[in-house]
Amino acid sequence: MSAPARVLELANASVLVFPDRVSACQVAAERVAHALRSAVATRGRAVLGLATGSTPEPIYAHLVALHREGTLSFANVSTYNLDEYYPISPLDPNSYRAYMHRHLFRAVDLPANQAHVLDGTVPASAAAEHAAQFDRWIAADGGLDFQLLGLGRNGHIGFNEPSELAAEAAMRLPTRLVDLHPVTLADAAKDFGDESRVISRALTVGVAPILAARSILVVAFGPNKAEAVAQSLRGPITAQVPGSLLQSASGKVTWILDEAAAGDI
Ligand code: GLP
Repeated sequence: MSAPARVLELANASVLVFPDRVSACQVAAERVAHALRSAVATRGRAVLGLATGSTPEPIYAHLVALHREGTLSFANVSTYNLDEYYPISPLDPNSYRAYMHRHLFRAVDLPANQAHVLDGTVPASAAAEHAAQFDRWIAADGGLDFQLLGLGRNGHIGFNEPSELAAEAAMRLPTRLVDLHPVTLADAAKDFGDESRVISRALTVGVAPILAARSILVVAFGPNKAEAVAQSLRGPITAQVPGSLLQSASGKVTWILDEAAAGDI
């Protein structure tokens, strides 16, 4: 397995810095696989929180490779994805349901009824109840053994966007319907072809269920993420940088970065 170039043990997180994204994603995938296997070994099943975006794509490719080699099974796994645009059809290639199908679900033995993605087709009047039901299902599944997270350029986790809330209130945020932040809309323009076509709302797993995961792995690459990474790790715990709320989950958070994303720490 690849070794990190540097390991930083901060007060609230372990940080592994890799020279390149390929080795970083290989280690991230090994961590997901390890969490899955240990939960299955100890309690017969594993509950994983999964992320989308460009960052985790190679991680899913590694997991698929482990499955094809016959060393990783998803038969006893439940997955809960972090977020989904709203409204959106699961058939839309920009939906996170379609992303997960492309990058993982279609290539592994995860039973279809154990792959949970927030439903971008529920009527607006039912969105709050659907979000609350997602949280109840995670809880009824025994909570998340492992949460894989990316980081937005504005510090968002899932689609928990920067806000003026007190940090304590932000940490209690449940799964819900949200408006996307201007930085998020600008960054999503590459997927939708044009910023004016980006869907401006989303369902997101809340900060509270993310923080409740038994282990959290945040992966961020590139110079665009350096400021958000540094603020999340070293800055004050504030809802204006949602990644900084992870400092409150001290002892169970690991960050995997490349040198560029670690540049401002
Ligand atoms: C999206 C997702 C986030 C993800 C972020 C970073 O907004 N909702 O969960 O972490 O983008 O994306 P990328 O990995 O493409 O930089």
